Amino acid sequence: MNICVIGCGYVGLTTGTVLSHFGHDVTCVDIDSQKVDALNNGVCIIHEDGLESMLQKQLQKGTLEFSTDIHKHLQRNAVILVAVGTPASATGKTDLTYIDQVIENITLSTQDDEKKTIIIKSTVPPGTNEYIQTRLIESGKRKDRFTVISNPEFLREGTALYDLLNPDKVVVGGRNPLELEFIRKMYAYLPSEYFFTSPVTAELIKYASNAFLATKISFINELQRICEAYKGDISVVAEAIGCDPRIGPHFLKAGLGYGGYCLPKDIQSLSHAATVKGVVPSLLYSVERVNNSQVDMYIDFLEKEAGDLNHRKITVWGLAFKSNTDDTRDSPSYRLIKRLNEKGAILTAYDPAAVNKSKIVRTSKDQYESIKDADILIIATDWMDFIEADWTKVKAEMNGSIIMDARNCLNPSDVRSAGLNYVAPGIG
Ligand code: UDX
Repeated sequence: MNICVIGCGYVGLTTGTVLSHFGHDVTCVDIDSQKVDALNNGVCIIHEDGLESMLQKQLQKGTLEFSTDIHKHLQRNAVILVAVGTPASATGKTDLTYIDQVIENITLSTQDDEKKTIIIKSTVPPGTNEYIQTRLIESGKRKDRFTVISNPEFLREGTALYDLLNPDKVVVGGRNPLELEFIRKMYAYLPSEYFFTSPVTAELIKYASNAFLATKISFINELQRICEAYKGDISVVAEAIGCDPRIGPHFLKAGLGYGGYCLPKDIQSLSHAATVKGVVPSLLYSVERVNNSQVDMYIDFLEKEAGDLNHRKITVWGLAFKSNTDDTRDSPSYRLIKRLNEKGAILTAYDPAAVNKSKIVRTSKDQYESIKDADILIIATDWMDFIEADWTKVKAEMNGSIIMDARNCLNPSDVRSAGLNYVAPGIG
């Protein structure tokens, strides 16, 4: 197939590269010419395991290219995969500006006698695929010019390639079973569970998936508060309940809360979509409320353990919203840094991959240099470098001894045996 991918963000870039690896001729277009130049030179713009080498291999083979010329590639390719951003607006309503621009570009670049298959990968509110189909049909004389297929993406940042090559499911929202066959062929008949459903159900599957994951996280975070009140141990509670297959062990790690580009905006978007139809999403509101108050809960806890934070030297390990990515969008670590700054703390941060974009915290390039003379160290991202830190060295560098594990990722006895004071809410 000749495929034009619109948008070189996480989803567009990784999907485009993998589709070229499957044997298709792929052109990924983006408005950012610097990004496009870097990618054409084989420089991967995101920290994603294995992606750069696959990208370079496909560029060399000549089956993958990047371009800013959207009209040329919309004209040349019969298959268009849409992976543009769908950010949340202030009201929680999804901002569909980029989707609207795509519709306009497709109508401008397509002749009435051409047929195009348009695959919507972007996460869009229920009804959007229908809206896209209607707008495209209305733009020309022939009703059969465009086939719009919803094919939501479930990849996680940090394991994007693995997830694309080993999907637990492929969701295809369409009107004709031939569309399912088309998508199976596009994914080189990857063994997976395929769901062929209406476009709106496909859209809702994507939101339901992220909403359920966020619910698990807020559930365990609320339990963590109860554990703290009764001096129970949230890690053991999570491990024990996770043995029940009806509950499962994943997404039960208490901590600073969920962040990143997807979960926060998708919960807001689903809540908004519900209220528009008169459904009150009480549970989703609670999920957000717990998440939005997690950082304050950690600050209160730290003040109880360490006293006034004003003028205290605090080092935060981790800026990325989770480990194995350099993405800091809506990172709980930054929410924490902002609150610590308001409290008057003197801040330093360190992250193995993420670049600091904030002026309120200075960063150190070295993990151990970052804690020199620190009173308190906070673990805000669960990077392996932190889990496996040399705690004797940490003790030698620091002035104080408080280590607050805000991701419940450390082994408390490793930390304590170095003479440090391990603290975390709900750890008994
Ligand atoms: C998410 C979905 O998992 C993925 O299926 C979808 O396609 C995109 O959104 P991602 O944004 O990469 O993926 O992050 P994810 O791994 O889901 O983590 C989200 C946040 O939850 C992170 O901040 C993470 O630290 C936090 N989290 C995760 C917890 O606090 N506890 C957990 O147990 C798991």
